[in-house]
Amino acid sequence: MPEGGRSIPNMSKQTVKVSPIAASTPVRSSNLHKAGVPKLYDPGLATTLAYKSSITFLNGSAGILRYRGYPIEDLATSTTFDEVAYLLLFKYLPTRHQLEDFCASLSNNATIPSHIISIVKAFPTSAHPMTILVTALASLTAAYPDLNPAINGQSVYSSTKARIKVIHIVMGIMPSLAALILHHTSGTTYQNNFRKQQKPLSYTERFFQQAFTTQLRGMTSKTRSVLIHALDTLLVLHADHEQNCSTSAVRHLSSSGVDVFSSLSSGTAALYGPLHGGACEAVIHMLTRIGHSKNVPEFLEKVKNRQELLMGFGHRVYKTYDPRAKIVRRLLKQVLESDSNSTQDPLIEVATSLEKAALNDTYFVERKLYPNIDFYSGIIYKTLRVDPSFFGMFFAIGRCAGWLAHWQEFLDDNDRRIARPHQWFTGEVGPLKVPNIGEREQKQKSENADDWYSAKL
Ligand code: SDX
Repeated sequence: MPEGGRSIPNMSKQTVKVSPIAASTPVRSSNLHKAGVPKLYDPGLATTLAYKSSITFLNGSAGILRYRGYPIEDLATSTTFDEVAYLLLFKYLPTRHQLEDFCASLSNNATIPSHIISIVKAFPTSAHPMTILVTALASLTAAYPDLNPAINGQSVYSSTKARIKVIHIVMGIMPSLAALILHHTSGTTYQNNFRKQQKPLSYTERFFQQAFTTQLRGMTSKTRSVLIHALDTLLVLHADHEQNCSTSAVRHLSSSGVDVFSSLSSGTAALYGPLHGGACEAVIHMLTRIGHSKNVPEFLEKVKNRQELLMGFGHRVYKTYDPRAKIVRRLLKQVLESDSNSTQDPLIEVATSLEKAALNDTYFVERKLYPNIDFYSGIIYKTLRVDPSFFGMFFAIGRCAGWLAHWQEFLDDNDRRIARPHQWFTGEVGPLKVPNIGEREQKQKSENADDWYSAKL
């Protein structure tokens, strides 16, 4: 190894010298391997650069988030979700004409194929909305065989025309699907014949009109516009976040050549998890369990004893306040000022006490645990009077723009290969002699095997 190299411990306790690596220039692991460095074991891919991307930039220590170079703080206050989705997907903020055309094309794709309506309605109304969305997205493939590589070959996505068709289909139908699922799980009726307007509605307005027909009836026009603005800003904040679990799942699945709808279904399933997009719902359950600010110290002790997770806190990348969480906090204030009913929400007081206590507690400060985007967003969603199980849907209808942008970017990546990581094998290498059925009991006894199966735990 060249002089001045750094030594890194490897699993067999030797140290291996590697040449100094310029921090900014990633090194292909295959080159390290050729240089004799053993494969790196990286649980949770915490230090692995799995993909290249030019879409979103994060700096976790400085709390920076930029979509195609634009700071999230500026996008959240001066653009709409339609504009941000366009930026993520087509690299530029749209002109007035491009924006109108984009909104019109999405509205023209708002109708849900009948087989998907039947699939959604086949679910019990008690089904978790994200379970239904995962299924509905995967079944979209059946409506578009021309966009299925398994039927029409890998070139189906090679044309810009086909990719734009996919984008129009997915972003057209996502708000409709979310609205249909909300109506189904609430026992109300969804109108599939979305009334096209003279001037195409924005993504968020269209969703609001389709989903909240009941809630809208009792809402003043001021509250309606405040909530639409708040929801639109939340969709901007959720639109993309580089290689988070769900976006890298979309890339992982699409690396096998499977259709885009199945890849998006996998991203939705990853987002559903309480450690990821499901955290927003989990925060509300946590705050409800805590019940009152006087119970916060006891709850935090349970967290420190690892009996509980502080949901809505912590982040793989941000080791300071999530910049989006700051914007959500401001949004919450605006919504509370506009909607007198929500100011009485007891969870707000619990959340603010919990945040204050955690931010002043060395356990959380030492671990750089700060509120993330999910800590306060659920309280805003609550003002829409939907069940917390629906909150992941809000995340999904925003994140689908980022998923599609990464899916599209990966199609053109010269490094694109099927994702197939290695493992660190810790089992019995063998070869062992196969015991016949009569010898097995003795073998298990002699090896003091854990017979948990027979114990029927
Ligand atoms: C999102 O990746 C993204 O970009 C995601 C996202 C996006 O936009 O796509 O930003 C959206 O998913 C936000 C995160 C939502 N999830 C939650 O709020 C769930 C609660 N958070 C944790 O589960 C956790 O913080 C994660 C999953 C978010 C991050 O997990 P890591 O990076 O694996 O955390 P870590 O193991 O490095 O934690 C360091 C330490 C550990 O303690 P020690 O073992 O070192 O003593 O902090 C502890 C952890 O135990 N810790 C927590 C904690 N999060 C980390 N302890 C209590 N409560 C927590 N929430």
